[in-house]
Amino acid sequence: MTARLNSNQARDVAYYLHPYTNLSIHEKEGPLVITRGEGIYVFDDAGNRYIEGLGGLWCASLGFSEERLVEAANRQMKKLPFYHSFGHKVSDVGIELAERLVGMAPVPMSKVFFTNSGSEANDTAVKLIWYYHNAIGKPEKKKIIARLKGYHGVTVAAASLTGLPNNHRDFDLPIARILHTDCPHHYRFARPGESEEAFAERCAQSLEALILKEGPETVAAFFAEPVMGAGGVITPPKGYFEKIQKVLKKYDVLFLADEVICGFGRTGNMFATTTYGLEPDMISVAKQLSAGYMPIAALMVNERIYRGLVSESEKIGLFAHGFTYGGHPVPAAVALETLKIYEERQIVEHVRRMAPHFQGRLSALGKHPLVGEARGVGLIGGLELVKNKASREAFQPGDGVGAYAARLAQANGVITRGMTDTLGLCPPLIITEREIGALFDAVKKALDEALAGLRKRQLVAA
Ligand SMILES: Cc1ncc(COP(=O)(O)O)c(C=O)c1O
Repeated sequence: MTARLNSNQARDVAYYLHPYTNLSIHEKEGPLVITRGEGIYVFDDAGNRYIEGLGGLWCASLGFSEERLVEAANRQMKKLPFYHSFGHKVSDVGIELAERLVGMAPVPMSKVFFTNSGSEANDTAVKLIWYYHNAIGKPEKKKIIARLKGYHGVTVAAASLTGLPNNHRDFDLPIARILHTDCPHHYRFARPGESEEAFAERCAQSLEALILKEGPETVAAFFAEPVMGAGGVITPPKGYFEKIQKVLKKYDVLFLADEVICGFGRTGNMFATTTYGLEPDMISVAKQLSAGYMPIAALMVNERIYRGLVSESEKIGLFAHGFTYGGHPVPAAVALETLKIYEERQIVEHVRRMAPHFQGRLSALGKHPLVGEARGVGLIGGLELVKNKASREAFQPGDGVGAYAARLAQANGVITRGMTDTLGLCPPLIITEREIGALFDAVKKALDEALAGLRKRQLVAA
């Protein structure tokens, strides 16, 4: 890194500990410093413009310059800049948001518990599942099953649920009573000639075998993202959730749908629970809940779970769980305004209109020599880069191909992210047809450059 002593880059390296970053490379290369945003674009401190191809971590559904959200925050700041909801207190705006979320929930939900992040929402869910089973006199029913390659966050329980090796390795995770079942990625894990349905059936059988091995009386809940995000944008194979839910019902296993990425229009319905016919007992949401403008997340629970919480708190004298900033009035006001905008501007209909253009350009890139599989739904997509298209041979992790391709995309004006070797695309939902064209033109150019570079390094055949 050649940075001036007092530059943003030098001061960042001096003081800022970065999440999800190779810290030793960072010391040499420094950060990309983003200073402003406009529509689907962000700008760095040298004035370069980028399409935020990942909505800034799957968040910025309304882009980076929605004035109404700024005004909503400003109004709320002036009226009531902080309040909490401990001990029978609450802000009026918090109530309004909870009511609205229950009203729009894709399956009947009873109550909303607010947190500041998706991780906290999922961590809360783990605690509530344990509390609930103590309440109903099943203290042995405590194990929770998530999936390999699933992502549920980084706090201790949420990171344990996450099924990605780096989230466990040397963090001494997972904690006890957290188990993982198969990743339902047909392209990677199906047997030769196995149909999506047959593969889905095998995943469901494998889940059932795990439940039986552990003892159904010890298995409390199953966590799943409708579309797996950080694991590489993995859409479920045909019939998967139908078969999985049959197993869950058979053994009275609760189901949490982690809608942290999928919620609020991303898949072409307000919730992916609707897209995939899910019947969860709990739903976690975050990110697009406030278009990313303010940190806020939530866990919705159904009446069955809520009644358990009531009886246990009656017995103990207190439901002793909560975050100081949970339901903070300013993020709540911004979230409310976000939800109003989604409705007024018919964001779901817009996603449905744009999805064919987005998915069309995405699947066209599936023909690129470097792309093994192009997959997606609505306005989310993944491009899995492979060493050999015919044999599906993957690159070695040490080759760093995903990160390399993401760097080339950035040089071509698109911010995306290599999740292992899958490039994730999840642009602001307000993206237009023309902007989708520009996004994919740049990604295609980056892939062409990556192919040339990898051929030179002899990582792919010439
Ligand atoms: C599906 C899913 N669940 C949970 C989380 C964790 O959310 P947070 O980073 O807000 O803690 C994420 C974050 O990307 C996510 O994608």
